[in-house]
Amino acid sequence: MAMDGLEGVVVADTQLSDVDGERGRLVVRGHDVEELALTADFEAACALLWSGQLPGAKAHEELRAKLGRARGRAFERLARLGDALDGADGMEALRAGLAHLRASELDPEELHAELTGAVAVLAAAWARRRRGAAPLAPDPGLGHAADFLRMASPHGSDPARSQALDAYLVTAADHGMNASTFTARVVASTASDPVSAVVAAIGALKGPLHGGAPGPVLAMLDAIGAPERAASWIADELAAGRRIMGMGHRVYRVRDPRAAVLERAVERLRASGLRSDRLDLARAVEAVAVASLGERRPERRLAANVEFYTAVILDAIGLPQELFSPTFAVARVAGWLAHVAEQARGGRLIRPSSRYVGPMPETPAAA
Ligand code: COA
Repeated sequence: MAMDGLEGVVVADTQLSDVDGERGRLVVRGHDVEELALTADFEAACALLWSGQLPGAKAHEELRAKLGRARGRAFERLARLGDALDGADGMEALRAGLAHLRASELDPEELHAELTGAVAVLAAAWARRRRGAAPLAPDPGLGHAADFLRMASPHGSDPARSQALDAYLVTAADHGMNASTFTARVVASTASDPVSAVVAAIGALKGPLHGGAPGPVLAMLDAIGAPERAASWIADELAAGRRIMGMGHRVYRVRDPRAAVLERAVERLRASGLRSDRLDLARAVEAVAVASLGERRPERRLAANVEFYTAVILDAIGLPQELFSPTFAVARVAGWLAHVAEQARGGRLIRPSSRYVGPMPETPAAA
């Protein structure tokens, strides 16, 4: 019998992150995600994932400058991308834009920064193009989160919203053997190159069962509109056989710890004076969804996943819905690259087996 969806199959030993689905705990290289989201910015999370340690002040400054330079180079390359960023889907734009990079021409020392910088610049340039605006040049003096927000959001950036985006990027940077990370590791396991691995991972992240969920979560909150309409809306969706986006998870049997981290980050934003009307609605919808799903399938515990509050936080910091999945990629590329390096260092070719259930030729096999 095939192991449908590879559930529970261990495909690698990793030092990068651990997802405890029973207890709802995410550990990234020895640090709880709750602690990291409060104390680290995206640069620090990249350093942790790529080198194994949180950086000191000097290493942090160097990585920040390196990412700034990489964003600058990615911006210079935009002019040579042809129609790669013309489409209506940001993930397709990322896939096409990144595919222009040639691993053989990149400095191996700069490769992680190069790809990480490129994802942010491509996502922001695509978003501005959608609004009919020319891309904004990066500011290498800013942190990655602040500069991405400045380039991508129609509302620009400010310290409170940049800090909230940092919390999101840190929270979403790595998460065990999720589908896109597995994809990246499969590509790396063939001794292919990191650009190819990241392009393939973008393809996996794009799907609504993975990184494509937060856009539909926001659409759901808007369709529900008011807490008192949540129960009937969710009942109709379930009756129609549709899934409630932002709910359920392959590994977590309790609430995704990242949902709580992001929920608290939105609270901090509100405390700093920013409005987020959707937070209260989201909490009400979550409660109704958990109760409705629990009634239908008491044995399969379905709770909110990271995407539920991703929608709320990215909306609160002023990113449009169509940028939600690309912003996930801005974060997760850090984890992909760490996994690609780990796989390249020690992993064997990933080549599982399948069980053939098709017809056999009528002639018996030769002895
Ligand atoms: N809404 C309604 N029902 C759901 C559900 C959801 N969000 N998530 C799972 N279920 C149901 C399934 O329909 C299935 O019921 P069935 O056996 O009657 O068909 C049962 O729960 C088990 O689900 P399963 O498909 O085995 O879970 P999975 O581990 O394969 O899938 C997800 C995990 C995340 C893909 C799934 O929960 C989902 O589709 N969630 C919505 C999309 C989403 O938020 N994705 C972001 C993930 S971070």
